[in-house]
Amino acid sequence: MSNMIGKLAGRFIVFDGPDGSGKSTQISRLVERARGAGLVVREVREPGGTSIGEQIRTILLDPVNAEMTLGCEMLLYMASRSQLVEREIKPALERGELVIADRFVSATLAYQGTAGGLSVDWIQAVAEVAVAGTWPDLTIILDVDDSVAARRLNPLLDRMELKGREFHKKVREGFLEQAERWPERYTVIDATEDADSVEKNVRNTIDSFDFCRNFPQKNGY
Ligand code: TMP
Repeated sequence: MSNMIGKLAGRFIVFDGPDGSGKSTQISRLVERARGAGLVVREVREPGGTSIGEQIRTILLDPVNAEMTLGCEMLLYMASRSQLVEREIKPALERGELVIADRFVSATLAYQGTAGGLSVDWIQAVAEVAVAGTWPDLTIILDVDDSVAARRLNPLLDRMELKGREFHKKVREGFLEQAERWPERYTVIDATEDADSVEKNVRNTIDSFDFCRNFPQKNGY
């Protein structure tokens, strides 16, 4: 138990992956386990997680905003992130809490970059401003193919989910490419299995991950 406190206090873990990958279930299980072990956990979600961020989330996901440009979309995700990092994530890490985020820069790279077509370099440049040095220690990609993901989605799709199967295939490729590129701080977990098996893999990944390893904080993605 105390091992978990020593290892995870002041650490920043992100869960990301295609829509329908089961992030919420895995996040709540990890949060429960970490709190049970005595850790103070700050759970955040993107876009959102602050009052301003939740207003931005409403604009981003409302199907009425179909005419939104890709640049506007990317900047709104980053604006929400900037508020979240400065107001919630950074102070929580400084207090020694474990921060668990539902999505982060990895999502912008996959959705607006690989799938949307926006330059990854531009996204990285804006991300530097938005996160101001606060990069995750570990990003866990819950991987599902598009047919499994589609089966799991609520039939009332939001603006992003309405973008279609080809788009979502590319989103998945985007996440897998990132994990290949940055294996020292990304891990991919097959999320097609049942929630208990995925949870076991998440637990093993975190147990065996070396959180003390140094890696460049600048240009973190
Ligand atoms: P959620 O369904 O995980 O709450 O995420 C909301 C949607 O926003 C989801 O379809 C993924 C998308 N998204 C992006 O396109 N770019 C981003 O940077 C983030 C954080 C989410």
